Amino acid sequence: MNIENIVKKLPEYITEDRMKHCIGVMKTAAELAEKYKADRRKAEIAGLLHDVARDLELAQMVSLCADRVKNLNDYVKQNKLLLHSYAGRVLAERDFGIRDKEILSAIEKHTTGSNNMSLLEKIIFVSDYIEPSRSFRGVKKARKLAYSDLNSAMLYIYRSILIHLLREVRYVCVETLEGYNSILMEVKKVE
Ligand SMILES: [Fe+2]
Ligand SMILES: [Fe+2]
Repeated sequence: MNIENIVKKLPEYITEDRMKHCIGVMKTAAELAEKYKADRRKAEIAGLLHDVARDLELAQMVSLCADRVKNLNDYVKQNKLLLHSYAGRVLAERDFGIRDKEILSAIEKHTTGSNNMSLLEKIIFVSDYIEPSRSFRGVKKARKLAYSDLNSAMLYIYRSILIHLLREVRYVCVETLEGYNSILMEVKKVE
C-alpha cells in the first residue's frame, strides 16, 4: 500500500491525537533518512504505521500476536505499551500489505529497541521519541543529538528510558538493556 492510501486507512485504527503523532514520526523519520542516507520511503511507511495497534484493547493485541505471545513473559503479555509493537507488525502486514522485513522489524522494535539495530530501526526508534509534538524533559537534547549523531541520540534515549523505569521501579525489558549495551559499544567502544 502506498503512503497516500495508508494515510487514508490509518484513522480506522487509531485516535486523532495518535494520528498526529504518527504523521510527526513519519516526517521526522523522512528527515533523518535523508540525513543518514536511509531509504526515505521505508522510513515514512514505518513511521506512519509504527503505532497502528496502539489504541487496540489488550485482548485484541494478544490475539494478533498469539504465536509470539507464547514466548513472552507474563508481564509483557499484560502490557499494552509493550505488546502494541508486536501487534503493530502483524497489522501492518495483514491489513496494509507491508511485506518489507526491514519496515516490519522497525515497527516491532520501536518501543523496546534491541541489540544491533539497523539504520532504519534506529531512525524509527529515535523519531518516535523526538517528533515535534513530544514535549517531555530532555526531548530538546535528544532532538539536537538526533540531527548531529544518530548513535549518540540512541544512547541518550536508552539512558533516559532506563533511568525513568528504574526510578519508577518498573519492569525493564531485556531487549532494552541489550540495546543500551549494544549502542554503548558502538558509541564508546567500551572495554
Ligand atoms: Fe508505540
Ligand atoms: Fe509512537
